[in-house]
Amino acid sequence: MEENAVESLAGRAYVVTGGGTGIGAATALRLAELGASVTVLGRRRDPLEAVAAEVGRRGGDALACPADVRDPAAVEEGVEAALDRFGRIDGLVNNAAGNFVTPAERLSPNGWRAVVDIVLNGSWNCTSAVARRMIDAGRPGSIVSVIATYAWTGHPGTVHSAAAKAGVVSMTRTLAVEWARYGIRLNCIAPGPTETEGAGSALWAAPEERERVLSSVPLRRFAGAPEIGDLTGFLLSDRAGYVTGAILTADGGQSLGRQIYGPPIGEGSGAAGTRR
Ligand code: HXC
Repeated sequence: MEENAVESLAGRAYVVTGGGTGIGAATALRLAELGASVTVLGRRRDPLEAVAAEVGRRGGDALACPADVRDPAAVEEGVEAALDRFGRIDGLVNNAAGNFVTPAERLSPNGWRAVVDIVLNGSWNCTSAVARRMIDAGRPGSIVSVIATYAWTGHPGTVHSAAAKAGVVSMTRTLAVEWARYGIRLNCIAPGPTETEGAGSALWAAPEERERVLSSVPLRRFAGAPEIGDLTGFLLSDRAGYVTGAILTADGGQSLGRQIYGPPIGEGSGAAGTRR
């Protein structure tokens, strides 16, 4: 396989949901850099237009498509518009998410429904709309869903999101087997704390909160949104052609290293393996 990473998605066309901000926007820009045309789909027109314009300034081609992933008809319309514009569809990034931290006992039925609707039903709506078109066209493709490690560790305050993300993992594994016959690969990426405007202001706005989050990451830094976009580009590309039904965890070791506090072993005064 002689595929150059720099052009590994040349001529391809992808849909990125939640593509107007954060990891979704960074992913759209990276896919365009790798040679793909991109449709950014999300609820708010302005950020989508801004990302599409930025792709254009960098020499790529992008379509801004306002649609709520919870609405199957709107998703169908959006995917159809992407197909019309680019003449093909090679895959999807399920990035759109909704989340808020709340004690489970205070979560209302509507709060549960809103998050599960966006994360699980939205991912299914988009996956189904894109995959049916790839199957009809006899075209192989690749779908990546952005999840979180709490899909399997769980995390207090996020029962709605954790349950929905676990559903996305199960959907991914099921379809990876069922649709392998069509050459459709499905994988998940599980980013750890990632430096984005939204996360920064919502999840670690206070300096001490930021420090607390950082201290839970063995690599002692946040992920950059572009590096998560780059890994997604890799999973979409033929370089990952034998990878399906997998989860690529990119969390700086956070989900493994919760017990590590202090400097790396060997640099501090404690014996190797000592809990500090
Ligand atoms: C308690 C809340 C709440 C909060 C909303 N609700 N916010 N309850 N605490 N902070 C409740 C509302 O009261 C309402 O229930 C129900 O949820 C629906 O709220 P709406 O605002 O009407 O819904 P909607 O406009 O559809 O908004 C959906 C949303 C919102 C999920 C609630 O936050 C949203 O759209 N977020 C999109 C962006 C986002 O969240 N991105 C974060 C993704 S990050 P009642 O009973 O009052 O009617 C992520 C991964 C993080 O997911 C990983 C970290 C490692």
